[in-house]
Amino acid sequence: MKVGVLTGGGDCPGLNAVIRAIIRKGIPTYGHEFVGFRDGWRGPIENVTMPLDIQAVRGILTRGGTILGSSRTNPFKIENGVALIQQNLDALGVDALIAIGGEDTLGVAKKLADEGVHVVGVPKTIDNDLNGTDYTFGFDTAVNIATEAIDRLHTTAESHHRALVVEVMGRHAGWIALHSGMAGGASVILIPEVPFSIAKVCEYVESRFRTNYAPIIVVSEGAIPLAGDSAGDSAGDSAGEMVVKDGSVDSFGHVRLSGIGEWVAQEIERRTGKEARTSVLGHIQRGGTPTAFDRVLATRLGLHAITAVHEGDWGKMVGLKGTEIVRVPLSEATASLKLVDPARYAEVEVFFG
Ligand code: F6P
Repeated sequence: MKVGVLTGGGDCPGLNAVIRAIIRKGIPTYGHEFVGFRDGWRGPIENVTMPLDIQAVRGILTRGGTILGSSRTNPFKIENGVALIQQNLDALGVDALIAIGGEDTLGVAKKLADEGVHVVGVPKTIDNDLNGTDYTFGFDTAVNIATEAIDRLHTTAESHHRALVVEVMGRHAGWIALHSGMAGGASVILIPEVPFSIAKVCEYVESRFRTNYAPIIVVSEGAIPLAGDSAGDSAGDSAGEMVVKDGSVDSFGHVRLSGIGEWVAQEIERRTGKEARTSVLGHIQRGGTPTAFDRVLATRLGLHAITAVHEGDWGKMVGLKGTEIVRVPLSEATASLKLVDPARYAEVEVFFG
């Protein structure tokens, strides 16, 4: 069988580990041939490929990013996008595709599977917001990077008697903020799933200063201030809405976020009179080498994905359930996002303030 492999969406530590596992099992165990498609769905649409053999995957286990390149190309937004994919797969003699990606890339994979393309999905995102898997690879790395940043910010916050706000990624799901905030001993954690009161945040900040400690506030980029709570704030139009960077959207309709951290810091200064600063971690969270956990998870997902392909189990995604790798329908995995349960968030509120 000839199998195409692509990586789509935001890059994520562990992508290369998946690609390596697919090839290292697929060639010697099953005798399959492989072709790499460049830059997500752009590869099969524009027929941009690269060789994928054992030599091509040597030395990539620990490397961040993706040797295949990535993009947020949406075939359903391009004229004849799906037909072009089908034509190019046929012309190359590709029998099956492994799509490694998050909600958008796998959403496309699901629709292509519905149209008869032989696809298997592998879940990827630092946000950890895909259903059908307990964890996505990349998340553990992102949490460790954010935790290290919080650890470092504690000492500077204490030295300067400042409130420090850390803005982490997480458009709709607050997993990175929740886990890094818990691990780093944050004074407040703000996530998209639970709109927050800026007045309450300021109370926590003041109570933390009263105990002679400086507060660290961890905020997801998609966190939303409660409407009706921010009268007279310095950015009144932010209340009740996500703070967006410049209004631009990608081809899946996602608006670019960032700015909520700065808004929170300004409000803290204005309301409490304490100095506040913001650190936006941004793409640092997605860069560099994956943790050991992510290398192992990514490798196992790759091994199981190529077996699913070998068995012709189309329209499925491999995922982690407990300690086992399972297969779930792509339709189930992409139907909704896996968000933080408010009860899970409530557990950590005892540490706030
Ligand atoms: O989807 C993963 C993610 O890292 C989100 O947390 C974030 O909102 C988005 O990607 C950023 O995308 P880009 O790299 O295109 O700015």
